[in-house]
Amino acid sequence: MAKKNRISDRLSDSPMPNHIAIIMDGNGRWAQRRLLPRTMGHRAGMSSLKKVVRTCDELKVAYLTVFAFSTENWKRPETEVDYLMNLLVEFLHRELEELHHNDVQIHVLGDYGAIPQKCQIEISRALEMTRNNTGLIFNIALNYGARREIVESVKSITTRILRGELSPDDIDEQVLAQSLYTAGMPDPDLLIRTAGEMRISNFMLWQVAYAEIVVSDVLWPDFGPEELRRAIQEYQGRDRRFGGLRL
Ligand code: IPE
Ligand code: IPE
Ligand code: MG
Repeated sequence: MAKKNRISDRLSDSPMPNHIAIIMDGNGRWAQRRLLPRTMGHRAGMSSLKKVVRTCDELKVAYLTVFAFSTENWKRPETEVDYLMNLLVEFLHRELEELHHNDVQIHVLGDYGAIPQKCQIEISRALEMTRNNTGLIFNIALNYGARREIVESVKSITTRILRGELSPDDIDEQVLAQSLYTAGMPDPDLLIRTAGEMRISNFMLWQVAYAEIVVSDVLWPDFGPEELRRAIQEYQGRDRRFGGLRL
């Protein structure tokens, strides 16, 4: 409780981001700098994730989306991919009780039919257990690729047209947005990328159209509540115009 007040007290009265999206990057570099295997970086990154979810919950952020595994990350060695999948199972197994207790609602964005079955079972359990929760919406982007998401969306719209449920003239931004994995959710206001890389890496290409981007040089395993607060402060100092003029 005391911690909660400390963090929020130092944030200004400007609006908080309603939806924060994070590209959690730099686990490998964190490990390499310590002469550790990359997998140890992923393990350390799990602790950051735990802290960041907790802080978002305390700050009453409505939506948090984290990029956990991309459709391109299958290119990595099998041992690293396996480790990442097992780590996710472990994270859900360890944290589910507390997340559920804190009223967090978990979602998975991405094609999780293609991930190992053990992982799917754990995810289904988490989704099922938290589906009626009303607190923080916590999206885990897993086997997620924005281009694939858009392709899937186009396929589902086409199917509706072929069934006669929709006419091509009905397609607008709303229809497309509602057929993405994030249907019914607001777009991210703040996109954070850790480890200094200035790229989007196929993350939420549609949804980040007007997100404020904050790139932190801090590697993900070193990213914690203080860095999150700093990113939110930077967001609060931005002038969001959405193509209009400053008021
Ligand atoms: C982010 O850290 C985790 C995933 C992409 C799964 P990286 O593993 O990409 O770390 P770096 O970029 O090699 O340092
Ligand atoms: C983006 O990080 C994917 C995740 C954080 C899960 P990468 O490390 O895969 O991105 P690139 O390869 O540097 O673009
Ligand atoms: Mg990386």
